[in-house]
Amino acid sequence: MATQPYYLKQNVIVEPLINQWYAWSYLISPAPAAMLIANSHLKMMQSFVGAPQVHVSALKNPAMRGGPFLNYGPDKVGAIRTLIDETITEQALLLELAEAIQKFSDLLMTEANGFSLEALYQRVPEPLKGYVELVYDLNNFPSIRFIEALLYASPYFNQSSQSLCLSLSQTDERPFALSTPQINTDGHLHLKIPFGASVLDDLFRMKVEPAAIDPIKEALGVPASGQQLFESFFSSEPPAPPSRYTDRPIRIRYFGHACILVESRDVAILMDPVISYQQFGGIDRYTYADLPETIDYVLITHNHQDHCMFETLLQLRHRIKQVIVPKNNGGSLADPSLKLVFQNIGFPVVREIDEMERIEVQGGEIIGLPFLGEHADLNIRTKMAYLIRLDEKSILCAADSNNLEPALYKHIHQQLGDVNVVFLGMECDGGPLSWLYGPLLTKPLARRFDQSRRLCGSDCNRGMEIVDQLHPSQVYIYAMGLEPWLTYLTSIQYTDESRPIVESNKLVEACHHRGITSERLFGHKEIFL
Ligand SMILES: [Fe+2]
Ligand SMILES: [Fe+2]
Repeated sequence: MATQPYYLKQNVIVEPLINQWYAWSYLISPAPAAMLIANSHLKMMQSFVGAPQVHVSALKNPAMRGGPFLNYGPDKVGAIRTLIDETITEQALLLELAEAIQKFSDLLMTEANGFSLEALYQRVPEPLKGYVELVYDLNNFPSIRFIEALLYASPYFNQSSQSLCLSLSQTDERPFALSTPQINTDGHLHLKIPFGASVLDDLFRMKVEPAAIDPIKEALGVPASGQQLFESFFSSEPPAPPSRYTDRPIRIRYFGHACILVESRDVAILMDPVISYQQFGGIDRYTYADLPETIDYVLITHNHQDHCMFETLLQLRHRIKQVIVPKNNGGSLADPSLKLVFQNIGFPVVREIDEMERIEVQGGEIIGLPFLGEHADLNIRTKMAYLIRLDEKSILCAADSNNLEPALYKHIHQQLGDVNVVFLGMECDGGPLSWLYGPLLTKPLARRFDQSRRLCGSDCNRGMEIVDQLHPSQVYIYAMGLEPWLTYLTSIQYTDESRPIVESNKLVEACHHRGITSERLFGHKEIFL
């Protein structure tokens, strides 16, 4: 078999892992990664080996699915114990870094009381020395500014903890990925390989271009025990060839969740790529096979796992000419730079965009628009809505923007005028701050504060205030985590009574009253403009 040219099958799941945990941007940037490993991963695993039955019982309740529980039975206690030991040994440096961050944050809180910070440099713990600047804001609150680029260049950025897990997908159902390390061996092939390795591009190119299996098998270092499984991921059957839309009018395709492909005669722009694998059965959808061979621009709206998803991004890296990411604050633990993340995992052309900044593209422009809220009031700037203008048409993708202040869209409208199409997320419940950012907190947050500070998007009233400012003729609700191939990252399970469903129904109805085309998207959708 192995000497013939073969294609990588369209339903091979490729999970990027770090210390066996599902990789996302905060696990790649060294300082937040240190905090996540110390305060989340190790604690969850230790809790599991101490009382596996508690985790099993908790997960019997579907509402607990996104909670801090490992989705394994007691039979996995031994394997998790081994992973704890490995993590403690292999991530010793990052664990020291996490301890230093905690210790020094405590010290700043008690000792930085308005006097010059110069003397405190001597008290910066060794693991942090030379990687931080100490600053006050104008209210005299002290904080640490991390020099993130130097942390990437240091031993703290340990690429040997990166790996890929390959398996064949038979169904959309996948267990929630963010609270359970991937340690399955049955049907799962684990390859220790850094995300930046160019051999991954060769592998993923084989989804479309056939090649011999042996060279790629060798280049990936597939162990003898995994050869048979590896070969089962390939097929001689050619997939449908990628097609590039080169016509008028502009074509917009909804691939599920927040993933939108906008194509004109001149460019292909893909937002928040999260692409379903090919399934036999299940709801209709677009898959990898519906993407063009070259994607001119990938736009990332924000730094949440369901919008910046490396499982899809790595598989598309060789097709992407340029990634555009929101500019970030620089140096805050809560707000790692997406530009540095992408650059350090092998994306050759990454560009930051600022609020109201324009990037010229063939036949139009991409404009970064402010994105308020949905980040629990943390000072996180790595978030951007995008206005795409092509052939005199304009499309706003606002992702999870929460319209906290309608005057914002008044100002935007004054600058940019009406838009034709609005895509808006309305996940208006959202988890509390701690759901995502808890492990980064250096000072505990009272439960009542935590519950009030949520990762929530616009409700109907706030959404309609955007509509009434920008006068679109089409409004689509998206980014709701509705598609079954998404729930392994969002853990969202709605009923008809869930507020996001009720509120988005209301918004669709309000749009219809105004004569605006509107629907909540599900599965797939094609729009011509
Ligand atoms: Fe989000
Ligand atoms: Fe989202």
